[in-house]
Amino acid sequence: MANVPSAATDNAPESIITSPNATVPQHVAIIMDGNGRWAQQRHLPRLEGHRNGVDNIQRIVPCAIDLGIQVLTLYAFSTENWGRPQEEVSGLMRLFTLISRRETANLHRQGVRVFHIGSFDGVSAPLARAIQDAVVLTRSNTRMSLNIAFNYGGRDEIVRAVRELMRQDVGPDDITEEMISSHLYTAGLRDPDLIIRTAGEMRLSNFLLWQAAYSEYYSSPKLWPEFGPDDLRLAVESYANRKRKYGRL
Ligand code: IPE
Ligand code: IPE
Ligand code: MG
Repeated sequence: MANVPSAATDNAPESIITSPNATVPQHVAIIMDGNGRWAQQRHLPRLEGHRNGVDNIQRIVPCAIDLGIQVLTLYAFSTENWGRPQEEVSGLMRLFTLISRRETANLHRQGVRVFHIGSFDGVSAPLARAIQDAVVLTRSNTRMSLNIAFNYGGRDEIVRAVRELMRQDVGPDDITEEMISSHLYTAGLRDPDLIIRTAGEMRLSNFLLWQAAYSEYYSSPKLWPEFGPDDLRLAVESYANRKRKYGRL
């Protein structure tokens, strides 16, 4: 996290992406932030920003596939987002239910495998069912995995993993990093190579705390509804210029 460039200052030459040696991040995770500000700038209700934000996913997914990204994780709703005004929360839940129903067939056609990370605690039965149906329908797709981090919190995820290990009577000295990793929602998935946050913010907001240990970080000034394919390409180009060190020389 030490080197935090932004799209405005970190434009790599276009050739990097077209080069056969380009280093494409296999797992990209996006903190989709700025829907409220997008609406506010247009004197629209916040929910209108969320609607445009959700629609933007349809623009980003095909671009991620084209770039050769294998896993795309999108932070859609955090465990802390329940603390927003009730009207915004219920509007978001209605929107997620509608979109899960409306867009699953489209994602399925594109060969995308949908996966959910997070809990269903407090989530309405129709929304939980819509998400589970998307997961089941798309489970054999292999073109790209799309993880929806919905009702997700990094600390909550770690607490659940520890509780599960204790339930299995794992002794304190037997606990390993691999064991914790394999009890997280992301079990079996590689850690994110690149974490992108939109709207210029530079914090994780409880996203993939464990998994982000050595992720590269990229902050874009664009608000999520206006973060387009070109902006994703810029982020991926920036990644291609990084040297990952993992604490070594
Ligand atoms: C991100 O946009 C969407 C969610 C957190 C659900 P915000 O709603 O946080 O947008 P800003 O930060 O208020 O602009
Ligand atoms: C993070 O954005 C959560 C999602 C994008 C879903 P927030 O807008 O909730 O984060 P903070 O409150 O600015 O840290
Ligand atoms: Mg925000």
